[in-house]
Amino acid sequence: MGSAGWNGTRALVTGASSGIGAAIARELGAAGARVVLTGRNEAALARVAASSGTGASFLAGDLTDPAFRERLTEAVREHLGGLDLLVNNAGITMNARFEELESEVLRWIMEIDFFAQVELTRLVLPELFASKGRIVVMSSVTGLVGTPTRTAYAAAKHALHGLFGALRIELRSRGVSVTIACPGYVATPIRERAVLGDGREQGVDQAAGRTMLSAEDVARRTLRAAWRRRRMVLMGMETRLARILSIAAPGVLDNILEKATR
Ligand SMILES: NC(=O)c1ccc[n+]([C@@H]2O[C@H](COP(=O)([O-])OP(=O)(O)OC[C@H]3O[C@@H](n4cnc5c(N)ncnc54)[C@H](OP(=O)(O)O)[C@@H]3O)[C@@H](O)[C@H]2O)c1
Repeated sequence: MGSAGWNGTRALVTGASSGIGAAIARELGAAGARVVLTGRNEAALARVAASSGTGASFLAGDLTDPAFRERLTEAVREHLGGLDLLVNNAGITMNARFEELESEVLRWIMEIDFFAQVELTRLVLPELFASKGRIVVMSSVTGLVGTPTRTAYAAAKHALHGLFGALRIELRSRGVSVTIACPGYVATPIRERAVLGDGREQGVDQAAGRTMLSAEDVARRTLRAAWRRRRMVLMGMETRLARILSIAAPGVLDNILEKATR
């Protein structure tokens, strides 16, 4: 790519206060992009913005709030005067069997992981049309295959594939690309913050100790794919294996996933 390609790019990164979003913001900032960061944790956003170059600014708020999404869009227009890159990255995960998952929690996960991304995209589409810009959607291996104890998360990520896969084709004639990123395990606080069936945070990382991708690696590979306007980027051995087995031997994959979550 040449990360210099992002020099002067006007970008909006959601979920930029932590993990992969923070790494994407820093990577873009280092390349000379002007980035608006968002998330709920204002202090964390300020720290990430300070390390994302002089072109970085931030606005804190809850992305599931329609009024906040409007304010954020306004802030992007004011600060950046347009938009070349939207990174739909904010998200939460879960750890509960379906029979323990309360309906409100399922809907809450869909609000954050699906509707918030979709509605923010709708709001900034005029800017992306004007710039013939790029959309990144942070999905997961769980957007490709259903994973036990992640029913709502899998539903939200699969829904992102459906919506943005269709939108990608609609946007072709407008010059706007959609890149869906599917990492496997990434070393971030997401699993500690995962919600249980009743909505409480679980507080521990059940996968601690296993080999994981770094947030920086995922950020670089995602941005490289977006720069090249690739449809999708799979990251991590488990993602590639799951993709292949889901087509070639789905029953074997079910057995592996069942054993892995016992
Ligand atoms: N880590 C992994 O193993 C992994 C694997 C595959 C895919 N992913 C995906 O990667 C993305 C980033 O996850 P991560 O691992 O970097 O997790 P993370 O470190 O927990 O970061 C999640 C980000 O989402 C933001 N967020 C959550 N709820 C929000 C809300 N209601 N309003 C606004 N912002 C909200 C958080 O900001 P605040 O807390 O400040 O609101 C935070 O910046 C997610 O979409 C996740 O599904 C992660």
